[in-house]
Amino acid sequence: MIREVLRMGDPRLLRVAQPVTAFATPQLSALLQDMRDTMAQFDGVGLAAPQIGVDLRVVIFGGMSNPRYPDAPPLADTVLINPELEPLSAEEEDGWEGCLSVPGLRGWVPRWTRLRYAGFDESGQRFERSVDGFHARVVQHECDHLDGLLYPMRVRDFRRFGFIDELFGAQAAAE
Ligand code: NI
Repeated sequence: MIREVLRMGDPRLLRVAQPVTAFATPQLSALLQDMRDTMAQFDGVGLAAPQIGVDLRVVIFGGMSNPRYPDAPPLADTVLINPELEPLSAEEEDGWEGCLSVPGLRGWVPRWTRLRYAGFDESGQRFERSVDGFHARVVQHECDHLDGLLYPMRVRDFRRFGFIDELFGAQAAAE
């Protein structure tokens, strides 16, 4: 079921979300289906449970092609629960980000370039990956939602934060 995506300003986006304690349940399965449906409806690259008002440490991301991010490399569809992130170096890189909770805007956000993340899948199986680039950026963005952080809070240079059509032209905004 497609759910409403909360927008920045809603206090539910500022909570530190609770860990999932029960895996492979109908409730978790229904939550993930709602998250997939909602992410697909709005062409998201990722979605965190708090964005649909669910106070749990669950994120999804992925998609082989996305009209909102036409230049992004393919990203395997992933369910990540109770994630832990660890940078693999102090190196950061900047890149454009958007968020379904901050519609119509983009910002230039610094993120760790390389990181290892670990967490659990829907069945409770633990997994771990080392990633870089766009994949690393998406994971950091989505996991920030679990700690009540939205990407504008990470923007350092507000000259590179604004409306998509002003930053990139009307064509980009229509896509
Ligand atoms: Ni977001």
